[in-house]
Amino acid sequence: MRETWRGSTSFILAAAGSAVGLGNIWRFPYLAAKYGGGAFLIGYLLIVFVIIKTMLLSEILIGRAAHKTSVGAFSSLRNKRWKIVGFLGILSAFMILSFYSVVSGWVTYYTVQMAFGNLNHLDANALGSFFVHFSGGLVTPIVYHAIFMFILVLISIRGVVGGIEKLSRYGMPVLFLLMAILAVRSLSLPNAHVGLTFYLVPQWSQLTNPDLWSAALGQAFFSMSLASGCMLAYGSYLSKKENLPKVSSIVSYVDTLAAFFAGLIILPALFAFSGFHNIAGPGLVFIVLPAIFGQMWGGQFFGTLFFLLVIFASITSAISLLEVVVSYGIEQRGYSRKKSTIIFASLTFIVGIGCSYSLGPWSQITIAHIFHVATNVKIFNMGLFDLLAYISSNILMPLGGILIAIFVGWIRPARLLKEVTNNGTINFWWQPYFVVATKFIIPLVVGYILLSSLGILHSGYN
Ligand code: TRP
Repeated sequence: MRETWRGSTSFILAAAGSAVGLGNIWRFPYLAAKYGGGAFLIGYLLIVFVIIKTMLLSEILIGRAAHKTSVGAFSSLRNKRWKIVGFLGILSAFMILSFYSVVSGWVTYYTVQMAFGNLNHLDANALGSFFVHFSGGLVTPIVYHAIFMFILVLISIRGVVGGIEKLSRYGMPVLFLLMAILAVRSLSLPNAHVGLTFYLVPQWSQLTNPDLWSAALGQAFFSMSLASGCMLAYGSYLSKKENLPKVSSIVSYVDTLAAFFAGLIILPALFAFSGFHNIAGPGLVFIVLPAIFGQMWGGQFFGTLFFLLVIFASITSAISLLEVVVSYGIEQRGYSRKKSTIIFASLTFIVGIGCSYSLGPWSQITIAHIFHVATNVKIFNMGLFDLLAYISSNILMPLGGILIAIFVGWIRPARLLKEVTNNGTINFWWQPYFVVATKFIIPLVVGYILLSSLGILHSGYN
C-alpha cells in the first residue's frame, strides 16, 4: 500500500522541510543584497502572492489527484505526452542536487571548523580568504561533499515518509527559534540600522530592472521547491480529506518567513562590519556569519549550533530532491530503492565534483572556452556550478511552471477543481483567482520573464 502522511501537520512540516533550506538562508540574502534590498523583498513578495501560491497548490494538487510521483502523475491524469513535464522536473532536481550538495558540504565543513573554534579569531578579511581558499580547493570540499551525500544515501535507503516526518517535527521549530535569536543578535550590532534600512526601505528604481524580476522568480521557484517534482511527490502522499488550499498556503508562508528572517540576520550584520559592502555572492553566509559569531558571547557554541541546523535544513531539502530522482528509478525503471539511491547519488556526486572545481581549479572551463565560441551569450561564460544553477532556476523551472499551470488551467480543469475542493466540500475562497492565474496570469507572466531572462525580449546582456 502507498504510504500516507499521518496528518496535515506531518505534511506541512515535511513540505516546509523541503522548502526551507540553503535557498532561504544562503541564497535569498545575497540576492536581496544584490538587487537593492527592500526592492527585492517587494518583488519577491508580489511574486509569492501572484504566482507562487497558485503554483504550489497546483503541484500538490496534481500529486494528490494521481497518487503518483511526477512522470507517472502526468501520464495517468492525461497521456504519455505530458510525461515530458515530469522529465523536465527530474532533470532540474538532478542539476540542483549536484551543486546543492556541494554547498551543503561547505556547511558541514564550517560546522566542524566552528566546533573546533578555528574561525573565532579570524577577522573579516581573513574569513574572506579562508572561504575562497577552501571552496576553490582540490580535496577538502570534495571530501565534505562526499560526507553529505553519504548521509543522504543512508536516509534515502530507509525510505522517506517516516524518516522525514520525524526529522522535520523536531528540527523545524528549533530552526525557527534559533533564527529568531540570531536575528536579535544581528540587529543589536552597531550600525545594524543601516542594513535594516537597506533591507526594509525599497530603492524603487531597482523595480524596473528586469534582472530583479527574473532573479526573484527564479529564487521563489527554487525556495518553494517547485517545478521539480518535489512538492508533487509530497502531495501524492496526502490523504483525500486534507484541505489543500490551506496546507499549501501555510507552507508558502513558513518558507517566506524563513527567508525574511535570514535577511534580518545577514543584512544588518553585513553593514555592521565595514569592508563587507562588496560581498554579494555565495560567500555571504560563510563570511559574514562566522564574523558575527566571532564577536558574540558564546559565539563558538551558537555558531556550531547554527551551522548544525543549516545542515539539518539542507538535509530535509536535499532528500526531497534526491527522492524525485530515486522514485523515478523505482517507479519507472523498476530498480530497487537501494539500487536507485546508489546509482543516482553517485551520479550526483560526480557532477558535483565538476561544480566544485568550477570555483577553483577549473574556473577557466566554460562553454565559450571549450567550443571556442567567442560569444556574448551569458551562459556560455559560466562555470559548471553557475551554469547548472542558471539553467535549472532560470530556464527549466519557469518552463516546468508554465506547463504545470497550463495542465491545471486548460488540460484537466474540471477534474482538478473537483480535487482541490474535495468534491465541493471545502470553502476555497480564492478559487476564481486560482483559475485565472493558472489559465492566463502564470503562463503569460512566467513566459515573459523566461523569455526576457533568455535575452530574447531585451538586449541588455554583454
Ligand atoms: N527549496 C530548497 C531550498 O530553498 C531547495 C530545494 C528542495 C529545491 N527541493 C527543490 C529547489 C526543488 C528547487 C527545486 O533550499
